[in-house]
Amino acid sequence: MLVAPHIRILATGGTIAGIAGSAIAHEYRAGEIGIEDYLEKVGGLGLAAELSGTQIANIDSADMGPSIWNSLYLAATEALADDACDGVIITHGTDTLEETAFLLDLTLPSNKPVVVVGAMRPADAVGYDGLRNFANAVGVASNADAAGRGVLVVMGDRVFAARDVRKVRTRGTEAFRGFPRESIGLVTPSSLEWFGSAWRSGEAPAFAWHDDLPEVAIIYGFAGMDADCIMRQVRDTTRGVVLAGVGEGNMASAARSALARLASDGLAVVRASRADEGVVDREPEDMANGFIASRALNPQKARILLQLMLANGITDPARMQSEFDRR
Ligand code: SIN
Repeated sequence: MLVAPHIRILATGGTIAGIAGSAIAHEYRAGEIGIEDYLEKVGGLGLAAELSGTQIANIDSADMGPSIWNSLYLAATEALADDACDGVIITHGTDTLEETAFLLDLTLPSNKPVVVVGAMRPADAVGYDGLRNFANAVGVASNADAAGRGVLVVMGDRVFAARDVRKVRTRGTEAFRGFPRESIGLVTPSSLEWFGSAWRSGEAPAFAWHDDLPEVAIIYGFAGMDADCIMRQVRDTTRGVVLAGVGEGNMASAARSALARLASDGLAVVRASRADEGVVDREPEDMANGFIASRALNPQKARILLQLMLANGITDPARMQSEFDRR
């Protein structure tokens, strides 16, 4: 007899657990349904998996941050080490889902599937997308071939890698895309197709976990930016800055000089792009300025990588650049 895979659900809230109080209302509250009620709701779908749930938080993901990340990391680590657990699903609000997925991608082992899933419509809305997304996530988390691909994100019928996924729309159910790789798989409640094979061979995570992530600011670039715009956003406790620069991580000359001064004072300075599909390559002057190029990571993901490096004592710009180059 075929044994159903055991999937551990770590619930954090978001619209997937949201309630509007009306099937057609625009306003709703994220993070309202508890995991036990949610498991009852999905119980009728006939999913070929045994599900158990833990409520890590029940929040709007705008409030996601270090303390909940810490609880989530500990619960995911425990589940992945449990022989009785075949895969982990994290339910999450879509607004900061990409940051949580990337943080866990860099810190969890890749020995079993870990899937982050959300929804764009609350659970009592007409056309609630959460049930299908959840059913798809169960299919991915139950699939042994999902291991070795790092943390995955399922939205709609697509599977994304944590490194690539980004929220690109605030309306509608097709709100996510992957860059520079588009989706790496297609999933429905009854099928799963991978594009290419797993790429992570080792089980070891890229970085050790630290619950005290250092302060890193994201500074948004714009026409007319001056040195004050930079300095106002840097405090004594700031360890690094990610510039969401114009074009390919560019900035006004005055802002560049201010950032170069900060880098020479020991702050880590990363040039990222505010463009939707920005890729920032290293420039000849980066070495002299002490700057690091974010490559294909958007500013919010560049910030996560920078925080992890600083937390792990990696401060040499050349070493930091090589970590960005590898992503
Ligand atoms: C949230 O991120 O918690 C609210 C928005 C969403 O889940 O779509």
